[in-house]
Amino acid sequence: MPKLNIQGLHDMKLKGETAVWVTAYDYPTAQCAEAAGVDMILVGDSLGMCVYGYESTIPVSMEQCLMHCEAVRRAAPNTFLVGDMPFLSYQVSIPDAVLNSGRFFKTAAVDAIKLEGGRRVVPQVRAITDAGMVVFGHIGLTPQSSGQLGGFKAQGRTAGAAYALIEDAVALEEAGILALLVEAVPPEVCGQIRSTLSIPVYSIGAGADADGQLMIGSDVLGVFQAFTPKFVKRFADISGTATGAFKAYGEEVRRGVFPTADHAYTMVAGEEEKFLALLKREREGR
Ligand code: KIV
Repeated sequence: MPKLNIQGLHDMKLKGETAVWVTAYDYPTAQCAEAAGVDMILVGDSLGMCVYGYESTIPVSMEQCLMHCEAVRRAAPNTFLVGDMPFLSYQVSIPDAVLNSGRFFKTAAVDAIKLEGGRRVVPQVRAITDAGMVVFGHIGLTPQSSGQLGGFKAQGRTAGAAYALIEDAVALEEAGILALLVEAVPPEVCGQIRSTLSIPVYSIGAGADADGQLMIGSDVLGVFQAFTPKFVKRFADISGTATGAFKAYGEEVRRGVFPTADHAYTMVAGEEEKFLALLKREREGR
């Protein structure tokens, strides 16, 4: 299969094919995601919580996002890769927004960048797309502004809030985004956004009426323990498996069952005798 580009994602929408999108932050996980045939990988700033143990995405830096994007790109050269703009990498000024977006493309060979916000980021979206880059929007629950939203809460649950999301979506499409992620809103609101826009609309916790689904890889695998949003479905229990493996290893080491000769290197034939003779001579000479 040739690698997907943004045109391919738009074609999938036209053909009614649902895109599968997952976050990954490191080389081994991204290798598994590509081997599994996902359509897209997001190196989300959720790495702050899933990998570094921060309480929110606010502390995440450009350098952290870029390093993880580079690792994921090496592991998944044939998958559409989206880099996530961390807090304050695009809010402060338009030149910052363009330069920081460009760093993702130059150093990590991403296919697109994603930034959070509706009408208030329209000037940034215009400038980044004018510079030739592919931009994904992200509305609904936007974790970087979760303080203003009153926490990690569902959005668009009243008529006014739902209508504001439609206005945000339209403004972002007019500004040049080429795909939109909608997070934690009721399915009927996501469906209305989808039928209003002509670009692909992807859902994370916004129901099935979307052109694709995003899930946090750590949630799919069962490695993120801090909390579980309502929209998460775990497909594995990697934490349980990993804890069990560390326990079993510890028990074998403590009981002297591991390592055995099977896990050891051998000396070159005849060398052990020479080595012991050498040691004996040295010790007798002392
Ligand atoms: O950082 C991320 O993984 C995200 C998702 C929560 C949508 O932006």
